[in-house]
Amino acid sequence: MTEKDFIPNPYSATVEQGEVTWQSPSNIALVKYWGKLEHQIPANPSISFTLDSCRTTTTLKFRKKEQISDDFDFELEFEGEKKDSFRPKIQKFLERVEQYLPFLKDYEFSIETSNSFPHSSGIASSASGMSALALCLMSLEKQLNPEMSEEYFTRKSSFLARLGSGSACRSIEGELVVWGLQNNIYQSSDLYGVRFRDEVHENFRNYRDTILLVDKGEKQVSSTVGHELMNGHAYAERRFRQAHDNLDRLKEIFRSGDLSEFIKVVESEALTLHAMMMTSEPYFLLMKPNTLAIINKIFEFREETGLHLCFTLDAGANVHLLYPEKEEELTLEFIEVELKQYCQNGQYINDRVGSGARKLA
Ligand code: DP6
Repeated sequence: MTEKDFIPNPYSATVEQGEVTWQSPSNIALVKYWGKLEHQIPANPSISFTLDSCRTTTTLKFRKKEQISDDFDFELEFEGEKKDSFRPKIQKFLERVEQYLPFLKDYEFSIETSNSFPHSSGIASSASGMSALALCLMSLEKQLNPEMSEEYFTRKSSFLARLGSGSACRSIEGELVVWGLQNNIYQSSDLYGVRFRDEVHENFRNYRDTILLVDKGEKQVSSTVGHELMNGHAYAERRFRQAHDNLDRLKEIFRSGDLSEFIKVVESEALTLHAMMMTSEPYFLLMKPNTLAIINKIFEFREETGLHLCFTLDAGANVHLLYPEKEEELTLEFIEVELKQYCQNGQYINDRVGSGARKLA
């Protein structure tokens, strides 16, 4: 599908008011999206596990305006409180998606949102938040165009979410989602995420992700600024090619179930992401001493036990621990005894791979 396919024909129904609630998960990239072109087009393809319990719940209430006006009319509440600091981000999102949702200025909106994960935990909420909002707006569009197909609904939700935050387009569906063109073998697109439909070995079923909250502070570099650092970066082209190669490797790994190869690709991706940040201009060092302590402990643990615990990182100091379901018991014990000490206030979140967003009402 192309951008034009997401511009709707005149709507067949009218809707005066209503409300809708969606719950949408976060996701964790295995091959990282880092670097973008204009209009939220990724510089390289990425793939992620959709998470299960780290979610944003968003209720969108809408009412037709009595008087037509030429601005977006919305109120924002985050966890029960008015949140004006989020306004610019939502305003920008609405501007970007307006041509695809031409009804936006006809309604007054109230957006109520909350996260299942602790407030300011340093967990990126933009993927779950933007995808939940995109889905709510799509539910309204579906009321205006009741003939809309399921497939169009899903694709366009992902397309819109991407315009809010790139990685958000990978949060609509589960369990593995590819975003970005890759030799066309995945029928993937730069415009939206698609489910990875190949056979996936049972070793990856119900894969676990425990998120260690190493640093809950404000992000040192916003991802938008981070992506920009890839423009003119000395290693950019090589890195983008590597992402393609790693996605090909993962495709084979998911088929064969080779957990040792999985670890090599995933950890290399995480460290490459940070290496890109360390070698950009300006440079950033986003790992903390505790991040490194955890990584070294993981290496030791693997050496001693032969288990398949591995780590990945986002653009921050927190560590995602990925491991197979059947190694859960021993791994959780190791986390509690050896890794918890490196988390702020001993906090970590046990999550797992999930199946995507859910409509609650
Ligand atoms: C390091 O999706 O947050 O988590 O498109 O500017 O909103 P914007 O960026 P964002 O970038 C996420 C980067 C990452 C890697 C990934 O999730 O693939």
